Amino acid sequence: MILSATAKGTPPALRPYLPKDIPILLRIARASIEQLAQDEYSPGQIEAWVASFDDETAFAARLAAGLTLVATVDGLPAGFALLKGQEDIDLLYVAPGVVRRGVATVLVDALEKLGAARGAKRLTVKASDVARPFFSQRGYEPESRNTVPLGDEWLGHTIMTKALDQTPSTAH
Ligand SMILES: CC(C)(COP(=O)(O)OP(=O)(O)OC[C@H]1O[C@@H](n2cnc3c(N)ncnc32)[C@H](O)[C@@H]1OP(=O)(O)O)[C@@H](O)C(=O)NCCC(=O)NCCS
Repeated sequence: MILSATAKGTPPALRPYLPKDIPILLRIARASIEQLAQDEYSPGQIEAWVASFDDETAFAARLAAGLTLVATVDGLPAGFALLKGQEDIDLLYVAPGVVRRGVATVLVDALEKLGAARGAKRLTVKASDVARPFFSQRGYEPESRNTVPLGDEWLGHTIMTKALDQTPSTAH
């Protein structure tokens, strides 16, 4: 079971991902694609996108190879994001029942701060057409539009980039 719209009120919290999170993170990714992407992608494209999460072992290796954060609401996973290397936001998915409550904002705020602290000058994302407004309002600029094969389908995304503030933090 993943979080539903009944969980209200509590702001999202953050923690590093744990290997035991893998099954719920896969459920969040699949539900997010199936329920949030219907206006932007065809049923065939959604099916191909969901199928890209069929290989649990590959997914676990992908998360472990980067910096993966889990956002929780009332202690339950509500979304997750992966920073690959220093500069690439590689995954960002929020459970459909808790969208527009700042879950992605908390995750990407943290990735931007961690990226800057590691010396990244910018962050880049291959933004889905669902996520493009989210990244636009955070100051990510479109660089190019790509269409890539996934299974038997072709899916469009926009490469978007944001320069990070390199001002050293004065907080102690
Ligand atoms: C894109 C996504 C991650 C956004 O998650 P979220 O937790 O709902 O985002 P937030 O609540 O932090 O949104 C912050 C702001 O971004 C903008 N925004 C977010 N989703 C938006 C949408 N669907 N349409 C327009 N603006 C949107 C709004 O300005 C929003 O502020 P508001 O709710 O006060 O208006 C989520 O919709 C999702 O998981 N989508 C499906 C999977 C996907 O495409 N992942 C991205 C792969 S690159």
